[in-house]
Amino acid sequence: MTEKLILTIAVLGGTGKEGSGLAYRWAQAGYNLIIGSRTPEKAERVAGELNAELGEELIRGLGNEEAAKLCDIGVLTVPFKAHRATLEALKPYLQGKILVDVTVPLVPPSVDTVQIPEGGSAAKNAQELLGEAVSVVSAFQNISHEHLHGDHPIPCDVLVCGNNPEAREQVLQLVDAAGLQGWNAGPIANSIVAEGLTSILISINKQYKVKGAGIQITGVPRENAD
Ligand SMILES: NC(=O)c1ccc[n+]([C@@H]2O[C@H](COP(=O)([O-])OP(=O)(O)OC[C@H]3O[C@@H](n4cnc5c(N)ncnc54)[C@H](OP(=O)(O)O)[C@@H]3O)[C@@H](O)[C@H]2O)c1
Repeated sequence: MTEKLILTIAVLGGTGKEGSGLAYRWAQAGYNLIIGSRTPEKAERVAGELNAELGEELIRGLGNEEAAKLCDIGVLTVPFKAHRATLEALKPYLQGKILVDVTVPLVPPSVDTVQIPEGGSAAKNAQELLGEAVSVVSAFQNISHEHLHGDHPIPCDVLVCGNNPEAREQVLQLVDAAGLQGWNAGPIANSIVAEGLTSILISINKQYKVKGAGIQITGVPRENAD
């Protein structure tokens, strides 16, 4: 009998709201989870808090470099101002792997205004910086952390962009494991729209006094989504 391979996911910058919420979801779904931080003690503390919430010791906390070294799939959840420097530091440890980029190029204080970064988009810049041996896939930019704790299905869709179709497919499985509906949204160049949409959702949150506005794709039967 062949054993099912359990992938190790490292959420880099995973001590924040978005990264810890995603780690919580994937740990529940049975993946090996590492939270990465600039400060290993902070990662251990946040992992401990999540394990207490999960009722099991499912998540480890490590420094970002160690976490990136040990993972099969890296997930980057840092503020845009830390995007380039974090990727430069972790580049050697991500070679041959998938890097899921969740970063939104928000420029405070105008976070409800779409900002197009130099180079086109955060995820496109990540792909150029990391090189072709890393498959960058952008996803989850439109999912507010407000939805992530718990095990309920989340009624928001995820646009998944990346140049490597197999990597895109693997990330669609991660989306599904997190209780969300994903859509293959084409190459990494398309990430600009997913990244920009977040500012529109933040603007909608403010205007309608809600916390987790999201998007849903219509016109395709849901069971055909993948
Ligand atoms: N929050 C949401 O609902 C949401 C939704 C969709 C997308 N996003 C995007 O996901 C990313 C993370 O969001 P978040 O709300 O979780 O962010 P956050 O809490 O502000 O930051 C996440 C983590 O990034 C690390 N970090 C902060 N400043 C840094 C710096 N200068 N250099 C290196 N690391 C730094 C910190 O980890 P350590 O101190 O432990 O190193 C922090 O815990 C952002 O790009 C955001 O736009 C967020």
